[in-house]
Amino acid sequence: MSLKDKKILVGLTGGIACYKIPYLIRSLTKAGADVKVVMTEAATRFITPLTLETVSNNPVAVHMFPAEKFISTRHIDLAEWAELVVIAPATANVLAKISTGICDDLLTTIICATPRPVMIAPAMNPGMWQNPVTQRNVATLRELGYLFVGPEEGDMACEHVGMGRMSEPQKIFEAIQAFFQTSRKKKALKGKKVLVTAGPTREAIDPVRYLSNHSSGKMGYALAASAVKMGAEVTLVSGPATITPQPGVHLVSIETTKELHREVKKYFKGVDCLIMAAAPADFTVVHTKQKKIKRGKGTFELSLEPTVDILKDISKIKKTNQLIVGFALETDDAIANARRKIKEKKLDMIILNQPGPDSGFGTDTNQVTILYKNGRAVDLPVMRKTELADSILEIIAKKL
Ligand code: CTP
Repeated sequence: MSLKDKKILVGLTGGIACYKIPYLIRSLTKAGADVKVVMTEAATRFITPLTLETVSNNPVAVHMFPAEKFISTRHIDLAEWAELVVIAPATANVLAKISTGICDDLLTTIICATPRPVMIAPAMNPGMWQNPVTQRNVATLRELGYLFVGPEEGDMACEHVGMGRMSEPQKIFEAIQAFFQTSRKKKALKGKKVLVTAGPTREAIDPVRYLSNHSSGKMGYALAASAVKMGAEVTLVSGPATITPQPGVHLVSIETTKELHREVKKYFKGVDCLIMAAAPADFTVVHTKQKKIKRGKGTFELSLEPTVDILKDISKIKKTNQLIVGFALETDDAIANARRKIKEKKLDMIILNQPGPDSGFGTDTNQVTILYKNGRAVDLPVMRKTELADSILEIIAKKL
């Protein structure tokens, strides 16, 4: 995506990752952005303002009260000029300062003054990142709507390995692109209510064992995040998953297909769209044992019965202005099976997955075919699940 004429203020604080920032600025200017740079005094120890002036093609500001050309409102001018402020690298010190409103240099004063979104790419030693005080500051900033990219796990300049490495410039660049892309689409689902299901369900065999599947929940969580970013009010009913939902998503946790059915039924009446990305267990155990089943000598038989087909049941109460999107994971006769599911479950569209190296359970990417109830089929290329989620939500927004 082009960043033509986007006004981006990049703030550098004192960390060794400063040496990577010229690459970030180069990517931004190449994409058409107008980049201005503010550095803390400590950042100038790691990289010179001259380097950043050269790559940004703009003067670099360091001091609140520069000796040469004093402009009394320079912090306000820069704070209001920017459409997005990016702090990279962000030290533990700057996180602490901005989370408590301290403004004792040009950068922190700009951050305090700016009405624009601020994106933070932390970079610090793992001990500093894990420090509960830093974590508390990060939680405060997240709650206040500051955006975060990283940090990541890996080798550190201090020869430690752990969490705290700044995300690579390419990743920060992509996050900036995604920010501008989302703000463009932000209003597309404003006022709409979306219900998303995600993850597997578990059917207990005894107190320690269960039947389940390999669903990770990544696709459903990505869909919920995209819907929130586009302005929707989102409820996510999720089976067991280890993902943190996007802030703003109302999370309802369930375990069994029966519980999933109960919650979907409860929320469906009030929503404009249901996206059923969960992989509910199709069978449940007829008699769940109350005590752990002991190992025997012979074979062991387990009686299973089908669970309710949630979509089929929900389709009975579907109103004409409601949209239902299903998912299908097929290994054989994929298109025919998916078309059959559209009819049987009265879906508006189905996202067909065929498991492969880039697609299916647990992967970060997916390759899908979107099938519509009117018979149209659209093959999409391999995409990150987050990008696919955005594409699906854009289609839904148009239909709603
Ligand atoms: N689904 C559902 N209730 C179930 C099982 C699945 O509502 N008990 C939903 C899934 O969330 C998905 C769609 O139905 O959106 C298709 O799921 P899939 O597992 O592909 O199909 P099934 O209907 O379970 O049929 P089969 O397993 O025989 O392919």
